Amino acid sequence: MTEGSEGAERVVELIAATVGEGGRANFAPMGARFLPGGRVALIAYHGSSTHRNLAARGGGALNLTRDALLFVKTALFDYAPPHTFESGAPVMDEADEARVFAVDRREELEGKTRFEGQVVARRVMRVPESGFNRAAAAVMEALIAATRIGVMDADEIGQTLRRCAVIVSKTGGGREREAMRLVEEYVRNHSAR
Ligand SMILES: Cc1cc2nc3c(=O)[nH]c(=O)nc-3n(C[C@H](O)[C@H](O)[C@H](O)COP(=O)(O)O)c2cc1C
Repeated sequence: MTEGSEGAERVVELIAATVGEGGRANFAPMGARFLPGGRVALIAYHGSSTHRNLAARGGGALNLTRDALLFVKTALFDYAPPHTFESGAPVMDEADEARVFAVDRREELEGKTRFEGQVVARRVMRVPESGFNRAAAAVMEALIAATRIGVMDADEIGQTLRRCAVIVSKTGGGREREAMRLVEEYVRNHSAR
């Protein structure tokens, strides 16, 4: 998600993993910026577990994947995918790659904090399938709309979901279809109407 005035920095959607109270691993989709010199930045909203954990522990892992179903499950449900720990940070078994980072700079913005730091470890698990799948992108747009219930206009959310569902039905495989089904079900269950 593009935040604030940082539009010139390319945003990569990934699954941020942090460690919370009692050593519990927490996973949440976040938009990260990869900066020169092996540096990375992400902006976390106050009130999120990711914000709390980064503030308390000063680091985490950025799990890179194009699997829309993993984004949906970690965004909408309290889901911890299979993982191991690398340099103290949770690395997802199903990620293509993970980068562990240590926060060394914090900037307070309105309602959110920009955490910047250095990548201290990198694990590459697999070469991702290349090529662009429209259904995966459509699921991500639908998912973002779903996470904005109460903030985004309900009609706009409905329109976004309908448009994305058509793309998923035309170009999606099993995982994208399952991901879209979960998003639709979530929106049905959490909408005011
Ligand atoms: C694709 C995508 C990107 C997101 N990017 C961000 C982000 O950059 N910062 C943020 O605070 N929340 C972002 N969110 C929303 C969080 O994932 C969501 O609020 C989540 O519930 C936070 O979980 P947590 O409380 O476990 O940290 C994003 C959601 C999606 C689906």
